[in-house]
Amino acid sequence: MSTAYRSATDSSINSSPTSRPTAAPLGDRYRLERIHLEVTNVCNFKCEFCPDAIMERKRGHMDIALLEKALDEIAEKRLAKIVAFHLMGEPLIYPRIFEAIALATARDLNLHLTTNGSTFHIRPEHIHKLVDSGIPKVTISLQTPEPETFIIRGAPPNLAPDQYFEGITRYVQANLLSASSTRVHLKFLDTTPHPFLVPHKTMHVLEGKEQMQKQLKEWCDRLLAVLPSDHPHRPTPQVLQHRLAQHKPGRWQVIELTPKLALETFPLDSWGNAESTTVIPASFGYCNGTTDQAGILYDGTVVPCCKDYEGKIPLGNINNTTLLDILDQQQPACGLRAGFNKFQVTHPVCKRCMGADSRQKSLLRQVGSIAYFKLYNPVMKRLNPGWGEV
Ligand SMILES: C[S@@+](CC[C@H](N)C(=O)[O-])C[C@H]1O[C@@H](n2cnc3c(N)ncnc32)[C@H](O)[C@@H]1O
Ligand code: SF4
Ligand code: SF4
Repeated sequence: MSTAYRSATDSSINSSPTSRPTAAPLGDRYRLERIHLEVTNVCNFKCEFCPDAIMERKRGHMDIALLEKALDEIAEKRLAKIVAFHLMGEPLIYPRIFEAIALATARDLNLHLTTNGSTFHIRPEHIHKLVDSGIPKVTISLQTPEPETFIIRGAPPNLAPDQYFEGITRYVQANLLSASSTRVHLKFLDTTPHPFLVPHKTMHVLEGKEQMQKQLKEWCDRLLAVLPSDHPHRPTPQVLQHRLAQHKPGRWQVIELTPKLALETFPLDSWGNAESTTVIPASFGYCNGTTDQAGILYDGTVVPCCKDYEGKIPLGNINNTTLLDILDQQQPACGLRAGFNKFQVTHPVCKRCMGADSRQKSLLRQVGSIAYFKLYNPVMKRLNPGWGEV
């Protein structure tokens, strides 16, 4: 998932953003940092932490001609530094996913694929197809690394936990051994309570340093077992121990294992307070929806962010006009940006998204959003070019 903003305590350890394979050159010439291109909103999981189960939107796949049109415009006008093939849905379920990846890589787009990783077992041919696809980045949402917690994923009956873990392992190892330059991240859900983030619902997956480090270590050992001990990219046990010891729970963090493989921990998020029963709405704050990020739903509807999973802030539709026109002319459509530019939160979806379950936390999030976007984020980007782009 890409959150609209991350905790002000986010950090990336042992990461080397400049050495990452990127298809698109870096620089300030992109209109957006990231665009979420939802190739499908169909998913074979029903993760308890995700709003998929409550999503009322009709399910469907993006028409490949529409996808091509979007990719053409994004590439030609340099509209996004990163293109992600999801907003909701499972991209590897999209029937023409490898064609879609080829369309993006042929345009030299910096494509990121975030997947639940289930098809590595269900459709094993996906392993070599993805390894050979030339995609710059794959994030596997392992999230629940143990059989006991895998239960909350609502996986189909033909996928037992061990099969799920084994499929993911096979893909990661095949990629490590291959000549591909695809960078893979394996994501773990961190449910450690956090003062700034609003928990989606009460859920216990990995909490606290001990639990998290135990799982990170087990998965490191499991994945790296395929590399000979003298492999130049295999970290020594001491280096690995040092990197893992630096990990702090409750934050978004990246732990580099090799230049092509990293583990990523991500805190449980409320996804715009999608399922929260009590929300004290925000009235002021700042968000980067439409300035740094946007989404295109599978039917062509443009939305400001990945949190708008129902498409309740429709800015336009790329079937009728261009993405650039929609981004430029979105102000009359909803007044969202005009508000944020004055630190006002005007749209009801945003008011809910930035709010919290108590007055104090809501206030903290509103102040925090301004501090994050206007101070912390720019400073981090200046200090570490590529920061936040993992
Ligand atoms: C909506 S999913 C779509 C892509 C794909 N189906 C997947 O699961 O990787 C995008 C990402 O959001 C994460 N996610 C969903 N709900 C979340 C929540 N409440 N808190 C944090 N991450 C969440 C998923 O685990 C995944 O990494
Ligand atoms: S997180 Fe991904 S895999 Fe899980 S239900 Fe949501 S879309 Fe599906
Ligand atoms: S719903 Fe509004 S406040 Fe929340 S991420 Fe999207 S644009 Fe930002």
